[in-house]
Amino acid sequence: MSGRRDATGRFSDRRSPRMVVLSAGDPRTGVLASWILGQQRPGRGGAGLDTIRQLALPHDELLLVLGERDAGTEGAVLAHVPADGLAEVIGPRLLPGIDAGLGERLLERIVAELPGRWVRLMVAYLCPEDGETQAWFAAQRFRATRDLLVMSGEAWAASRPEPPVGWRLRPYSPIWQQTLVRVLVRTSLGAEDYPELDIWGDVGKRLTQLEQARGSGARLWSLVEWEGRVVGGLLLTDRAEAGHCELTYLGLIPPARGRGCGLWLVRHALWQTRSWGRSRLVAGVDTANGPALATYARAGFVEIDRRRVVYRVPEASERRQGPFAD
Ligand SMILES: CC(C)(COP(=O)(O)OP(=O)(O)OC[C@H]1O[C@@H](n2cnc3c(N)ncnc32)[C@H](O)[C@@H]1OP(=O)(O)O)[C@@H](O)C(=O)NCCC(=O)NCCS
Repeated sequence: MSGRRDATGRFSDRRSPRMVVLSAGDPRTGVLASWILGQQRPGRGGAGLDTIRQLALPHDELLLVLGERDAGTEGAVLAHVPADGLAEVIGPRLLPGIDAGLGERLLERIVAELPGRWVRLMVAYLCPEDGETQAWFAAQRFRATRDLLVMSGEAWAASRPEPPVGWRLRPYSPIWQQTLVRVLVRTSLGAEDYPELDIWGDVGKRLTQLEQARGSGARLWSLVEWEGRVVGGLLLTDRAEAGHCELTYLGLIPPARGRGCGLWLVRHALWQTRSWGRSRLVAGVDTANGPALATYARAGFVEIDRRRVVYRVPEASERRQGPFAD
């Protein structure tokens, strides 16, 4: 292998970027993550990184690969690897003027590292206009699926909507976790919400991850009841740092759809957003999810961003057991 060690003994070589693995609790992670965000070229989105820094749990891994040469760091890529195995890759980002080949090598290096952890699905949300980064992911056998539409609804004038007759919301508490898990599994039946991607995986583990994830904002989860039966869930998160609320998930079981409940829930979410002192409610939607798009549009939401979703499922032989593995 070519390359040489610098005065501190670090190995530097363009073909072998130095690998640094940091935990979410390591104070350097935030600084380095900000550095990555700061190096993005115009038109390349940085959405998600702030969220990850806030939501990463102390036992999650934030994996960082730096491309270093003698002169310093020229590029980097980051992956958030939570205990439930849904890994998100952010970057690669390069300093202006750096050869694109470094981006390709950084991505190759981090992808090779991920299956060594317990990773069940790798995803990245790319700028649709950024063909270069998309090509790096394609070279690493990531597949593109439908774009994610980021929509935002104005909450400043929202009032509390009356529930349709027979419907009510029951505030969630951890004793309801099994009920919520069961109903959320059923809400994915016939849904157009990235059906080919197992985003939720083991729903109980995913909920535990979401439930424990720290952040400075509040969180409000509710079970949706229709004539005394639990038929859906509404998960809302106040992203205080971002200054808006997020509609983390909204879903009804098939017999409960098409009865006006979805629109009521979105309006209720807008009112909750306002009562938390935020003016915007943000939701991410599969561009093929007609019912959800219609519901958000009816509640006054507009498109604010669009992401190209790419993913890769590690082969069984590439997966390792993790603390939450089956
Ligand atoms: C998205 C979802 C919550 C909508 O709830 P819903 O109770 O069926 O929606 P509503 O009956 O309140 O309808 C709201 C609006 O959307 C429209 N709409 C609902 N389903 C539709 C469909 N299948 N096709 C076209 N329009 C539809 C309604 O016509 C209504 O608009 P209108 O008042 O102008 O007629 C529900 O379909 C669902 O749970 N889907 C599965 C989970 C999911 O995809 N969640 C979204 C994740 S982002």
